[in-house]
Amino acid sequence: MSDGPATLRVDLGERSYDILVGDGLLAGAGKLIAPVLAEPRTVVITDENVEKHCLGTLEKSLDEAGIGHQSIVLEAGEQNKDYAHVEALTGLLLDHRVERTTTLIALGGGVVGDIAGFAAAVTLRGMDFIQIPTTLLAQVDSSVGGKTGINAPQGKNLIGAFHQPRLVLADIGALASLPPREMRAGYAEVVKYGLIADADFFAWLEANGQAVLEGDPEACLYAVLTSCRAKASIVEADETEKGSRALLNLGHTFGHALEAQTGYSDALHHGEAVAIGLGLAFDLSVRMGLCPGQDRDRLRSHLAAVGLPVGLGGLADGGWSAAGLIDLMGQDKKVRSGAMTFVLLRGIGQAFITQDVDLGLLSEVLEQALDIKGA
Ligand code: GLY
Repeated sequence: MSDGPATLRVDLGERSYDILVGDGLLAGAGKLIAPVLAEPRTVVITDENVEKHCLGTLEKSLDEAGIGHQSIVLEAGEQNKDYAHVEALTGLLLDHRVERTTTLIALGGGVVGDIAGFAAAVTLRGMDFIQIPTTLLAQVDSSVGGKTGINAPQGKNLIGAFHQPRLVLADIGALASLPPREMRAGYAEVVKYGLIADADFFAWLEANGQAVLEGDPEACLYAVLTSCRAKASIVEADETEKGSRALLNLGHTFGHALEAQTGYSDALHHGEAVAIGLGLAFDLSVRMGLCPGQDRDRLRSHLAAVGLPVGLGGLADGGWSAAGLIDLMGQDKKVRSGAMTFVLLRGIGQAFITQDVDLGLLSEVLEQALDIKGA
């Protein structure tokens, strides 16, 4: 049962909102969201997996709070994060005769949040929406900060809008039904916050990461709250990623290239690609003489200890090359004036943004990771 949520404020002027984090919040969600509704009418958007575990509890709580609701259940999976599914979803919303005062509720992981948030941004030129993230990845990253959108054939998340939610409600009790692989993938984003600017949090994760992955409520609460606090402060400083928000992309430029190379398939989940990308960002930083090798080794030991991938072994085949990966990295939307933007490290907790990277060194780092030279 819930002890009452911890509350974090994301301070964005008139787009400010609260993140509520707690154990068992879903059962009382109706009462928690009622104050931010323009009228007591909602449409819940979820997927077929989350429907089984969480939809009934949310609907009951909405009934108890006197909030009207309809539900739309999407097919699960990253492959559904495309125009066709947004077209179908917005069509259904219009069929339901939603009004600007109707609030959409995204109940699910990152894919549901991204599609529902984008539908909220464009339907009737903008509707309110609430994020109820049910995966670790969505609770610590994608539900906070207002990035919404879909994938394009040209790359991941290339079509979208900044559209802040009115509330984020993270029930860590929802994590109990997550498969271990998905929990681990989300954990890579948690590690990212320690690497960006919080060496103490990284040390805490070295001691407590296994407890987080096993779903220990106290450890999960601390990890989600610390991650959301870190993300909120970065988003407050640079809501639309003109500069410092790019720190949140640590590991992602590499990771997105790996995901594209594997065809966004089940072979590599987003968080696993981020874990490998974090290691590659460290490899490049060490190769450039920016960072001590022992910090990179600490990261690798921790990722290995929690069962996250630390290299490309088992993934890459003869079709992979350093040049191919660099080409995919160049298609990432973080390219500015034709130059790739990198997030590198001076050590654990000391990430920084730069475009000053020698592509020859980058190629060497990737070749080493692919073990092309040794093959
Ligand atoms: N996931 C990165 C960001 O929200 O900016």
